[in-house]
Amino acid sequence: MELKNAVAVVTGANRGFGRHLAAQLVERGAKVYGAARHPETVDVPGAVPLRLDVTDEASIRQAARVASDTTLLINNAGISTGATLIGGDAAEVRREMETNFFGPLAATRAFAPVIEGNGGGAVLNVLSALSWFHPAGLGSYAASKAAAWALTGATRDELAPRGITVSALHVGYMDTDMAAAVPADQKVAAADVAAQALHGIETGLLEILADETSRHVKQNLAAAPRPNTD
Ligand SMILES: NC(=O)c1ccc[n+]([C@@H]2O[C@H](COP(=O)([O-])OP(=O)(O)OC[C@H]3O[C@@H](n4cnc5c(N)ncnc54)[C@H](OP(=O)(O)O)[C@@H]3O)[C@@H](O)[C@H]2O)c1
Repeated sequence: MELKNAVAVVTGANRGFGRHLAAQLVERGAKVYGAARHPETVDVPGAVPLRLDVTDEASIRQAARVASDTTLLINNAGISTGATLIGGDAAEVRREMETNFFGPLAATRAFAPVIEGNGGGAVLNVLSALSWFHPAGLGSYAASKAAAWALTGATRDELAPRGITVSALHVGYMDTDMAAAVPADQKVAAADVAAQALHGIETGLLEILADETSRHVKQNLAAAPRPNTD
């Protein structure tokens, strides 16, 4: 889809990867709603702040009413609790699923009729190499991103007849707050990944593999399961 005249909603646009996405969309000529729990923290020049908490369906419905000209939804907002699935806090596991799976689902359900009503468009889900690789130490996060991958495939088929293309971005570690503890040489630049994501939307790519980690993990999906030791 052409981004120049697109009207984009980016969830979690106040910092991290979402902030890069919002800024680059503005640069490309799109109208951008920078969605955030606290819209006053959205400081991307040219973006329109929009209140949206992905765990609060009423706020999502209200955002969809306000941003009634939307043609592109980017489900970016996410959390990483570090909870493990067996020994971790079960409430954290649920919170992660609420944010990373039910959040994009609720946003897609609310914005699909809006995008369709505006003549069609696209949804991009910000996923992870951990949608496909599930180490114990990140079990809860990986499960939520695997679920969001399934959501991506199923909503792609359900929304295609309504003129909406659903795609996924997969990446390993990026240089944002979420990966602050990860050594610099293991992270890619979020600005570069944002550029790849937008190029992918423009060229109709359904699966954007933004770094070597995600390409490697995807290539090895057919390998036999084996225990991870980390
Ligand atoms: N960083 C990485 O290494 C990495 C790798 C692969 C995928 N990802 C994915 O990339 C996306 C962006 O993450 P990031 O790296 O930019 O992380 P980040 O720097 O921690 O930013 C997370 C963003 O999500 C927002 N958010 C969290 N919960 C929310 C909620 N309930 N409603 C609305 N917004 C909410 C945060 O808003 P507040 O300021 O209000 O908390 C913030 O804007 C996430 O989906 C993440 O899983 C990240």
